[in-house]
Amino acid sequence: MTGTVKPARRRRTALLAASALMVGALGAGGMMQGTAVAAPACTVDYKVVNDWGNGFTASVTVTNNATSTLSNWKVEWDYAGNQKAGSGWNATVAQSGAHVTVTAPSWNSSLSSGGSANFGFNGTYSGSNPAPSTFKLNGTTCNVDSGDPGDPGDPGDPGDPGDPGDPGDPGDRVDNPYAGAKLYVNPDWSEQAAENGGAAIADQPTAVWLDRISAITSGSAGENTMGLRDHLDEALEQGADALQMVTYNLPGRDCSALASQGELGPDEIDRYKNEFIDPIAAILSDPKYADLRIINIVEIDSLPNLITNVGSRPTATANCDTMLANGNYVKGVGYALAKLGAIPNVYNYIDIGHHGWLGWDDNFAPTAKLLHQAATSEGSTVDHVAGFAANVANYGALKEPHFTIDDSVNGTSVRQSKWVDWNRYVDEQSYAQAFREEAVKAGFRSDVGVIIDTSRNGWGGPNRPSAPAAKTSLDAFVDGSRVDRRIHTGNWCNQAGAGLGERPKAAPAPGIDAYAWIKPPGESDGASEDIPNDEGKKADQMCDPDYGGNARNGNSKSGALPDAPVSGHWFQAQFEELLRNAYPPVN
Ligand code: GLC
Repeated sequence: MTGTVKPARRRRTALLAASALMVGALGAGGMMQGTAVAAPACTVDYKVVNDWGNGFTASVTVTNNATSTLSNWKVEWDYAGNQKAGSGWNATVAQSGAHVTVTAPSWNSSLSSGGSANFGFNGTYSGSNPAPSTFKLNGTTCNVDSGDPGDPGDPGDPGDPGDPGDPGDPGDRVDNPYAGAKLYVNPDWSEQAAENGGAAIADQPTAVWLDRISAITSGSAGENTMGLRDHLDEALEQGADALQMVTYNLPGRDCSALASQGELGPDEIDRYKNEFIDPIAAILSDPKYADLRIINIVEIDSLPNLITNVGSRPTATANCDTMLANGNYVKGVGYALAKLGAIPNVYNYIDIGHHGWLGWDDNFAPTAKLLHQAATSEGSTVDHVAGFAANVANYGALKEPHFTIDDSVNGTSVRQSKWVDWNRYVDEQSYAQAFREEAVKAGFRSDVGVIIDTSRNGWGGPNRPSAPAAKTSLDAFVDGSRVDRRIHTGNWCNQAGAGLGERPKAAPAPGIDAYAWIKPPGESDGASEDIPNDEGKKADQMCDPDYGGNARNGNSKSGALPDAPVSGHWFQAQFEELLRNAYPPVN
């Protein structure tokens, strides 16, 4: 069979954090010119990257110009105005009076000779907001870096926020980040798809999954090799306007299943904040990415579980009860929204499961309320939420063309069929549009939009019905009409018969910001049998075609393809199935 043996993939050399290092070097060189003064032992580049009148975001890069490594670095300055620095990312920021002391994070505590560290924070002020004039690194006064080419604010540097004509300046925050945008194509996925029979779709944009701490620096699970900075730099090189990413590493992740359990235990909320979200925020707030719209899908498999899979429900799991009780999903989501949403060019979309998960009366409105609670916790506000993401990594049909929720057979509503089972929705688009309305009622902004993941909900191929079935009985009508050929809407792992769905498209319908390929087609949902791995992932019976099911899928067969690898890893047989059953078909 073709494609089962993959050629070794070229490992991408990690791109240097170029801006920080270069700015430091230029600063030192500038001081040396025509003077006998020794190079200062350090350079500090303090930038206000956003200022909204009474608050601001600062990004600070400190460079060690000494010949020896500095451990436990510490930066200090005094404000001349009444600025008050809040808590930061990538370092601990503390202020007493006008004096600010920034200490290194444990995971990045030493500065090698020539090395730089970048950190950031949000602050408040009234009156004016001048940059501090003097900085110290571990007691030594530093060279202040300003006015060098490459500094944001110098007119003419491409990509500086505020330069006229730069599309996507933070000031130009848009309602729908997909509108008119060229999207980043992830080369890690693209090469894999092209090499394995998918050349025709390899130029489609897919999301970058940050699914563990190490993915920030060295690429995601499986064969991917690029870290977040590599992706962002590559996006700039592609001339992309927008990049899609998924933050997916909550404590106690994937509480209702085993397939994507993660590296952080249920109580490790501090590690989530300090070692995952803060470093991501530090990278995303680098001014050189300020013109990229960063579309961030926030934590799938989390909040909806706290509605449906807890307490006395037959679908409850012990892990979801734990996560409800300790509050760490809500705190983690709130923190991610607060930190990443404070960056002007980040657009956060919160996961809303899919119609076959939350489309029932007892789940739908409570989910909107819980999401609002999370979006207003840990310092976040609804202004940090651009919208919601539906059907991520799931298989729900975008539109059922041959029946709607309002149809009936001999006076009985399709809601009473086995397949629909009292749900209010039969497909993702109607669900997404209705959830948007409910969310606005719950307190979200009226301009929120929804992304629908259409990477694997195509349901083409020979088994796709081409017309409504005869109304001989309720179930015969629904089962013969539906294009979603799953055994049960609760089935989610490597579904047999599925195909690629709608190609990515901006603003395809009212309230819908985009059809997007968030789950990279070809990446497994979970392993059918235990496979040793260092990602915390386990075999999940829902990925075993012989499993008879549980309360979450109506005790049905799992519908999964056999012999699947660990979630996130390349699954060639599924990729071929997705290509074969694509709808619209792949030419
Ligand atoms: C699964 C995996 C995750 C992977 C993602 C995208 O959710 O758990 O590691 O990145 O799918 O394929």
